Formats: sequence, C-alpha cells, structure tokens
Amino acid sequence: MSGLAIKNLSMRFDLPNGSHVQALQDVSLHLNEGELLSVLGPSGCGKTTLLNIVAGFLAPTEGSIELNGHSVTGPDKERGMVFQQGALFEWMSVRDNVSFGPRMAGKKQAEWGEHVDHLLDVTGLGDFKDKAIFELSGGMQQRVALARCLANDPDVILMDEPLGALDALTREKMQGLVLKLWKETGKTIILITHSVEEALLLGERLLVMAPRPGRIHKEYNLPFADMGVDGDLREVKKADGYARTREEILGMIWDMEEEIMGRSEDAS
Ligand SMILES: Nc1ncnc2c1ncn2[C@@H]1O[C@H](COP(=O)(O)OP(=O)(O)OP(=O)(O)O)[C@@H](O)[C@H]1O
Ligand SMILES: [Mg+2]
Repeated sequence: MSGLAIKNLSMRFDLPNGSHVQALQDVSLHLNEGELLSVLGPSGCGKTTLLNIVAGFLAPTEGSIELNGHSVTGPDKERGMVFQQGALFEWMSVRDNVSFGPRMAGKKQAEWGEHVDHLLDVTGLGDFKDKAIFELSGGMQQRVALARCLANDPDVILMDEPLGALDALTREKMQGLVLKLWKETGKTIILITHSVEEALLLGERLLVMAPRPGRIHKEYNLPFADMGVDGDLREVKKADGYARTREEILGMIWDMEEEIMGRSEDAS
C-alpha cells in the first residue's frame, strides 16, 4: 500500500530508577503520498518520540511503521529530517551543505548540480551559495536545512519545530516557503509545531495529541493550507472557520496543560 502507515505504535521508556514513561500509546495513522500533517500537543505528549520512530532513530516497543508497503526498521534517505536548529555543517559552504547527501551517495556533480542549484534558487539562497553557515541569519540557515533535506529527494519529510527558533516575521515568510515547497515537490510532510496558527496554516491534516500517555486526541481536515499555497497567509487567517478552529484547539490544549499542572501540584 502506498503512503505512510503508522500502526498501533506504543513507546515505553524504562528509567534507571525502575519507573517508566509511556511516551506513546496505540497511535495509528495513515498518510497518503503528498499529504501535509501538522502535529500539536502539550510538551511531553510524545511528538518528537513519534517523529524519531518514523525517522527510524528509535524502535517502538509495540507497533510498526510502513512506507509504501515496506517496513521501516532504521534511518534511510527516503525519510528526511529537518531539526529546529543547529544540525548544519557549520564549516561547509551553503552549497556543500545542500549537496551533502548526493555527494555522500557517491553521485557526480553532473547528476546533482542542476537540482541543487534549483533548490538554492527556490529557497532564495542562490546569492549565498558560497557563504559559510555561520555567516547566515537563522531564517537562512533553516532554508539551507530544508534545501539539504530536499536534495536527497526523500519520500517523507519530518520536521520537528523547524521554525520554532525564528522571529515572528521570518517565521511567517518561512511558512509560505514550506507551503510552496510542499506543492512544488508533492512530498509527504509531518510537521511538529507548538504554534496553533502554524499548525492551522500548514496542515491540511492536523493532529492534536494528548499527554500521559502520549496519544491522538483529535484530528482535523483543514482547507487553509490549500488556500495559502497561492494566497496571502494573513488573508487565510480571515477565512471562514479559521478563528473558530483556532479557539477550539487553543481551549483543548489549555485544558490539557491545566490538567498536567494540577497533577504535578497533587504530586508535590
Ligand atoms: N530517551 C528517553 N528516555 C526517557 N524518557 C524519554 C526519552 N525520550 C523522551 N522521553 C519522555 O517521553 C515523553 C515524550 O517526550 P517527547 O520528547 O516525545 O515529547 P514532545 O511532545 O516532543 O515534547 P516537547 O513539546 O517538549 O518537545 C516525555 O515524558 C519525555 O520525558
Ligand atoms: Mg519535542
């Protein structure tokens, strides 16, 4: 079957003191090729754990992941990751960072040159390709991270708070870029964010997770990502249903946070 199938995933971390954390419990989900799923939820609800399992960095205690019909058992370039920050090769130029994957795969420049130059152009890095990473702003660095991921031509892109460290204006511009790249490349994307607005604007599907144990709380199918591909993201925020859905999700997460705080007060 094509797409990404997450089947009955559970993850339990056993701690040295004999206790354990149930980071995920019975999470199931199917993503069709080309779908963009955003994932929201309070801190500690298992978002990064879920992404790490899909990336193949962690083996789940129960359940399985299948991509296009084969089972995922470890990392592979078919699943690319974009981290919040700090995962670039600081000492290499922008172009060397972006072409890293194809070069490590032993491909010749004739095979990757055009694709890499195209990615540098669409991410607005064309004039900066010879610069070192430390010479770039945070927003530019995240564009390098996106371009580097795309240069491997992955089937699935996994993003853990990729825009979380950016200032508000740069973040908004980057949200537009993510939508543009999504439409242009047709990649399947899972994007984790703490921002309800970002999750609404970018996720054609949106998953709200709940903590202790980490699980799926609610799922939405949303029209806003499609609207934002060709439109102004600020206008999308005025669309029918946007404010109502935002309030609903904010309320949901607020209640979860309250419950967590209540529980930790009980414990003290
Ligand atoms: N390697 C580990 N060993 C033990 N416990 C872990 C480990 N990794 C994660 N956990 C625990 O599992 C739970 C889920 O963690 P995870 O990092 O997936 O949450 P998250 O939703 O990404 O949180 P945040 O929004 O803060 O990034 C937390 O309670 C965390 O402490
Ligand atoms: Mg996390």
